[in-house]
Amino acid sequence: MHSDDYVEYCRETARHVRTLHDLALRGRNKEEITRQIQEYIVEAVGLQSGDDLVDIGCGDGTLLRMAERVGTKTAIGLLATDEEVALLRRSGFNVKQGFTDQLPIGDESASVVVCNSVLLVVSREKIPASLREIYRIAKPGARIFVGEVPFIPGCAPEPKFESRRETLSYLYHTYGLRTWFGMLRRMIYWTLVGKPPVILDGTQISFYAQPDEFIGMAEAAGLQIVRYWQHEYPNTRNNYLLQKAS
Ligand SMILES: C[S@@+](CC[C@H](N)C(=O)[O-])C[C@H]1O[C@@H](n2cnc3c(N)ncnc32)[C@H](O)[C@@H]1O
Repeated sequence: MHSDDYVEYCRETARHVRTLHDLALRGRNKEEITRQIQEYIVEAVGLQSGDDLVDIGCGDGTLLRMAERVGTKTAIGLLATDEEVALLRRSGFNVKQGFTDQLPIGDESASVVVCNSVLLVVSREKIPASLREIYRIAKPGARIFVGEVPFIPGCAPEPKFESRRETLSYLYHTYGLRTWFGMLRRMIYWTLVGKPPVILDGTQISFYAQPDEFIGMAEAAGLQIVRYWQHEYPNTRNNYLLQKAS
């Protein structure tokens, strides 16, 4: 699986959402987990009124809502697909389609840049360009949060299964009857039309790096490290607080 497949996974998710929170692409208790994560991001970057926030890969828009409450001057979110954009726009969010390595944002326009749980699905060769893009859009003195960067390869956010039965059982126990039934219908359809039952599950981590390597890449893009710490769950990822020199 390549990172472009992950974009297809985002598209598929947007086409079958039950609630907007599905766009955060987290499993159980997604709403609560996403809220907690975005709350600590708000705290880590010291988000305040008057800030200009860019949230790269903004998921279900939770951070954008929090920014609104804080009273930021602007808050814009970027998403991988037009399907996700359409859903969030319908709920009143200021969002655009854009990839990490080509941000549709002007130079030096953000006082805060957040990119959480996104770089892990971006292919390694695009990471330097993605970090340079963050540097380009950041105002001098900007605070930058790059979160959930895995330091080991591995699987997440969803497990992979060899059989339809295992897949269905996992979906039932994790997401409930509706998701189970939706997948069952798709599987029956695939059988009828003779399509292979390939599910774009977005499991593969495309990029991971040890802190030394990641900090080196960020510094090569012009960014300065403020601190980094281990993410709580899963505990195989690091969060980085960076800045652009004033
Ligand atoms: C796991 S969700 C994380 C959402 C949110 N940042 C959070 O922490 O709740 C991944 C997000 O990254 C976006 N995304 C995926 N690939 C991307 C890429 N190459 N460039 C920019 N965004 C991407 C998706 O649209 C999705 O919103």
